[in-house]
Amino acid sequence: MSFKTVEDPMHLRQALGRFATGVTVVTTRGPDGKLEGLTANSFSSVSLDPPLVLWSLQKRAPSLESFRSSGSFAVNVLGTHQHSHCKHFATPAQDKFADIAHEIGFGGCPLLTDSIATFECSTHSVVEGGDHLIFIGRVERAVYADGEPLIFSAGSFCVPALFPKPESVREASTAVQPAAIQRECCS
Ligand SMILES: Cc1cc2nc3c(=O)[nH]c(=O)nc-3n(C[C@H](O)[C@H](O)[C@H](O)COP(=O)(O)O)c2cc1C
Repeated sequence: MSFKTVEDPMHLRQALGRFATGVTVVTTRGPDGKLEGLTANSFSSVSLDPPLVLWSLQKRAPSLESFRSSGSFAVNVLGTHQHSHCKHFATPAQDKFADIAHEIGFGGCPLLTDSIATFECSTHSVVEGGDHLIFIGRVERAVYADGEPLIFSAGSFCVPALFPKPESVREASTAVQPAAIQRECCS
């Protein structure tokens, strides 16, 4: 157990990394028509009625003004088969969508083909959050598909495995493999 104070940013970062998340690519269309997208694991559900979700964007992100002025965004939830999107959309580039299969959805936001879920949102509110802005979106459309979610934990990607069932139930089902962790990318 590590008991350092939260003034050490690396210590805080490592503690926060113990909270496993999914991985999303959040997209929008800027006022100049430029398509923007970045890898984000800050996504969370907020409310079912009304249907609200949130994610946070670091204030120094080049795409900040596009997200702030656009009025809409889409959250693409990545499956394990989209693992390479994570690094791609976390790396600054002039056109991140040039070689990425997508279609255009609500508000002109790009939707990544084969995502395991997509939430098309209108921007409900933007809240100050220290060195981040918190975007709260009202979900206008939500779709989902079968597929394994990509998981991010302690700086590594993980492939999900079902928690082992009790012995009596397990006999009848297929063997469960422990989570496989790919130690590449991404802190
Ligand atoms: C797994 C992972 C999760 C991330 N989550 C966030 C996030 O929630 N918010 C954020 O602002 N940046 C996050 N980032 C960093 C951005 O993806 C990265 O800074 C990106 O280049 C910003 O896009 P832009 O340069 O087009 O603005 C994350 C990166 C990775 C690898």
